[in-house]
Amino acid sequence: MSKVLRSVLTGVGGYLPETVVTNDDLAKFVDTSDEWIRERTGIHKRHKIADDQGVSDLATEAAKRALAAAGRTAAEVDLIVVATTTADLTFPSVASMVQRKIGAPIGIAFDVQAVCSGFVFALSVADGFTARGLSKCALVIGAEAMTRLMDWEDRGTCILFGDGAGAVVVEPGEGKGDNTDKGLLGFSLKCDGTKQDLLYVDGGPSTTGTVGKLRMQGNQVFKHAVVNISQAVLDAAEAANIDVADVDWFIPHQANQRILAGVAHRLGIDENKVIQTVAEHANTSAASIPLAMDQAVRDGRIKPGQLLLMEAMGGGLTWGACVVRL
Ligand code: ACO
Repeated sequence: MSKVLRSVLTGVGGYLPETVVTNDDLAKFVDTSDEWIRERTGIHKRHKIADDQGVSDLATEAAKRALAAAGRTAAEVDLIVVATTTADLTFPSVASMVQRKIGAPIGIAFDVQAVCSGFVFALSVADGFTARGLSKCALVIGAEAMTRLMDWEDRGTCILFGDGAGAVVVEPGEGKGDNTDKGLLGFSLKCDGTKQDLLYVDGGPSTTGTVGKLRMQGNQVFKHAVVNISQAVLDAAEAANIDVADVDWFIPHQANQRILAGVAHRLGIDENKVIQTVAEHANTSAASIPLAMDQAVRDGRIKPGQLLLMEAMGGGLTWGACVVRL
């Protein structure tokens, strides 16, 4: 049988900033309530980046933990891909800052911008290097400070988001070329640029010269999320030549409990197989999938050899899914 190079996930790590903001904390300055937020979103609390932290600091901590879990050192890292929409500076990339902060040698480092879908897109980019023999030890990181993009007077958005970072180490591994291989097995990635107005940030370096604030038509995004994510799950499963029923764990982007339930219902997925962290983390955009994976690996639910399916949707609109055997 022919042999193929697979991109194998060998370690995962997560980092959440110390400060916790509860729904009651938000209700002190915006017209909302703990009851409304829990009922409509499933969110109980979120973490908030400290004033003296940048996203690269969150990403660096997550990267160190992922390297430790993989039994690798920074000296071995030859590729860093960071999915983020809240970089420390307009440039250089967060990835180049992480390279310096962990002490990795000169190599490849850059950011990927696909908002909440960013981690899935970044994994596909790293797969392009690893599966072609161009990287032996890659860090793929999702890191966000979404609270820095909030309009704290807009109760329809400021209650939804939180900050954090998650990372995985990706290394090459030999496979047979079928769905029993360890590693990334199939992707589905999409963008529909005509839906920009549903979810965007109203500032940027080439327009306003400011960072801007997040704007969203929440109920429209909600409808597209359930339909698009469900299709992405089916497409990624087909690309990986697996049946959705064979998946051990679904690791969705954690936007809203009702979106997770809606997708599970539409596809007939047992909700007990869906890793859920939205209650504690809220929506951490590109960080939410690796943060959820980290939690479920550490608490022993996700085990080596199991089949995982990650899925997300975000601004763009972008959406995607990927299948990986651990
Ligand atoms: N507290 C109390 N009332 C609120 C709040 C709040 N925080 N936010 C909105 N409301 C009010 C509205 O003003 C409206 O009041 P009205 O009827 O008097 O006008 C009412 O609640 C209903 O508003 P809707 O926007 O229709 O409420 P909906 O049930 O759609 O819930 C929500 C809003 C939670 C934003 C939901 O649409 C949602 O989660 N959408 C998905 C958005 C998302 O997750 N985006 C993240 C990025 S994309 C992604 O990650 C998938």
